[in-house]
Amino acid sequence: MKLTVIGTGYVGLVSGVCFTLNGNHVVCVDKDEEKIAKLNQMESPIYEPGIEALIEMNLREGRLAFSSDLGESVRRSDIVILAVGTPSLPSGEANLEYIENAAAEVGQAMDGYKIIMTKSTVPVGTNEKIRQIIAANTPHPFDIVSAPEFLREGSAIRDTLHPDRIIIGIDNPKVEPVMRELHQGFTDKIVVTDIRSAEMIKYASNAFLATKISFINEIANICEKVGADVTEVAEGMGLDKRIGSSFLQAGIGYGGSCFPKDTKALIQIAGNVDYEFKLLKSVVEVNTDQRFMILDKLHESIGSLAGAMVGVWGLAFKPNTDDVRESPAREIVEALVKEGAIVKVFDPIAADNFRKQYDHPQIRWCTLPEEAAEGSDAVTLLTDWSVFKDIDLAKMASTMRRPILIDGRNLYTKAQIEGTGLEYHSVGRPS
Ligand code: UGA
Repeated sequence: MKLTVIGTGYVGLVSGVCFTLNGNHVVCVDKDEEKIAKLNQMESPIYEPGIEALIEMNLREGRLAFSSDLGESVRRSDIVILAVGTPSLPSGEANLEYIENAAAEVGQAMDGYKIIMTKSTVPVGTNEKIRQIIAANTPHPFDIVSAPEFLREGSAIRDTLHPDRIIIGIDNPKVEPVMRELHQGFTDKIVVTDIRSAEMIKYASNAFLATKISFINEIANICEKVGADVTEVAEGMGLDKRIGSSFLQAGIGYGGSCFPKDTKALIQIAGNVDYEFKLLKSVVEVNTDQRFMILDKLHESIGSLAGAMVGVWGLAFKPNTDDVRESPAREIVEALVKEGAIVKVFDPIAADNFRKQYDHPQIRWCTLPEEAAEGSDAVTLLTDWSVFKDIDLAKMASTMRRPILIDGRNLYTKAQIEGTGLEYHSVGRPS
């Protein structure tokens, strides 16, 4: 089949590339001509392991193309996929400007029947709006599909090619076989629902995962006070199949472009129909507080931070990405600066992105983790990059002014710390 994917962010680019792998021809379209030029040079605008090799292979073999000409690409396609961003408005509501504009342009370009499939995360009812916008711009027939995306940054290709399930929201049963063909080879677990339920599944899934994280973080905070170990608690809980072991890793809380945005949007969606989503409001509140636990631990260990030197390991919202959007590291670094600390930061790949958003004369940008630790009163680990596991901790401790390590992601085991000379604090585990 011939596809157009509109938007070359995480969702659009990864889906576009993956749909070439089961025999489709895909054109990824973006308004940003510079981005398109780079993609045509096989340079990915996102950091995602494996993506550049796939772009290169599919460009060469003629199954993939990049273009800024939405109209031409839409006319040549059977299916048009909307994958533009839906960022948060100050109210927490999703900003639908980009998707509505894209829908109008698709309508204007259409010269015959098309299937329009929405992959962007959109509030319940948005696909109906999209239908109205397209219908107002074209006399041609079309069908709408809500196909929310569940990929994670850092494992986006694997998640797309081997998803736990595919959700297809339709209102015309004739579209189902086309959707099954489009996703051939990805998974047999295809759930076909109505459009509104598909839209809701996406928000409910992200909200539930965020709830698991805030839940385990609160359990961790209690564990610290009662002398229990949250890693063991999570393991014991997770073996119960009804609970499951994933997303029970305690730490400094969730960040990224999805959970913070989608939890706030779902609170708004509920509020718009006069329902107060109390549980989710608490999930967000717990998450916001959790990052400041790092500051509390620093105060307990070294007292005032004025004039102290603090090393920060990790700025990305999670490992294997250069994405710093809504990263808990941002508020932690800002708070350290505000309290008068000199902050020596290191991240293997996200430092440039972080620096574009926030810089300060009290920040020292380091190129090695050991450099961030040297002369510091404490090191705080904020992202669980695997490179931090390979550090010679004893050697590092000997270069610090005070050998204190605050592990905000529970990356190390007790055995790894023993004998290093470090005073070690983690989340929800006995010191
Ligand atoms: C998340 C969802 O996992 C995807 O299914 C979804 O498609 C995506 O949002 C989206 O809506 O586009 P992502 O934001 O890439 O994916 O990252 P996750 O791996 O889910 O991690 C999110 C945050 O939660 C990170 O800051 C991570 O450090 C934190 N986290 C995750 C924990 O603190 N504890 C855990 O146990 C798991």
